[in-house]
Amino acid sequence: MYKLIDGKGIASQIKEEIRNDVSLIRQSGARAPRLAAILVGSDGASETYVAHKVKACSEVGIESTLLRFPDTIGEERLLAEIGRLNIDKDVDGFIVQLPLPPHISEDAVVSAVSPDKDVDGFHPENVGRMVLGMPSFISATPFGILELLKRYDISVSGKRCVVIGRSNIVGRPLSILLSKKGVDATVTLLHSRSDNLKGIASEADILIAAIGSPSFVTSDMVKEGAVVIDVGTTRVKSDTTKSGWRLAGDVDFESVAPLCSYITPVPGGVGPMTIVSLLMNTVEAARRLTGQIAGSSV
Ligand code: GUN
Repeated sequence: MYKLIDGKGIASQIKEEIRNDVSLIRQSGARAPRLAAILVGSDGASETYVAHKVKACSEVGIESTLLRFPDTIGEERLLAEIGRLNIDKDVDGFIVQLPLPPHISEDAVVSAVSPDKDVDGFHPENVGRMVLGMPSFISATPFGILELLKRYDISVSGKRCVVIGRSNIVGRPLSILLSKKGVDATVTLLHSRSDNLKGIASEADILIAAIGSPSFVTSDMVKEGAVVIDVGTTRVKSDTTKSGWRLAGDVDFESVAPLCSYITPVPGGVGPMTIVSLLMNTVEAARRLTGQIAGSSV
């Protein structure tokens, strides 16, 4: 019988820990940490993610500021806002919610954020430091997945980990973190051009699906006893929810779960961990800026 990995429950525990960390910061005489979030346009999924991030901040005592701009905002103007946040002493860390409208270069935006305030861990300097194993902000979803495995005592050392999906936000950084010294997994990164995707996936001890394609992973891709981590959060139409949509994972849960030793649900698996990782990074940014304990996140 498989065990369900309760990301929501673990995220609640971590929020409690963050609440304590924030209290300690405040007891030291410093102001509360502050996260700012820039949201451009009104994409439904981005609206929801940012709302969750703002709510999570308030639950742990982190202050937050939401800056909204229409999707007609020019790149120059957005870069100017980023420049302003970079020097705002009251903001410890900030994020620019992706995706951005096509007329704005995500590369330019990500590179404009000060690496010291880049709590998403997307800036090339933080990505480079992460690759080299130096202290850095680690992007929230890979960080959350590693924390989830750690807290469930699921060892990845020496294990065959297969990551499906090579996005800059999840698949690629995760593949690097899993192969780091001290984490020590044997990692294969699969993508849309991979030959024999099924054959390789079905050799995985730990299979991580991050492609954004509902029910992509079926039972014929999963080895008996595997740990399966589902990063997918695609909105699909639903007749049974008030909103008219539901979140669909990348894994066909019904057919895959019976084969697994552990599996994450969608929702309630990786998603809540992504949010707490951002909170952890924000507290770390606040500590660094106030001169308290600096250190690596992973
Ligand atoms: N879009 C999807 N995931 C993320 C994330 O973790 N951070 C930001 N800024 N945008 C996203």
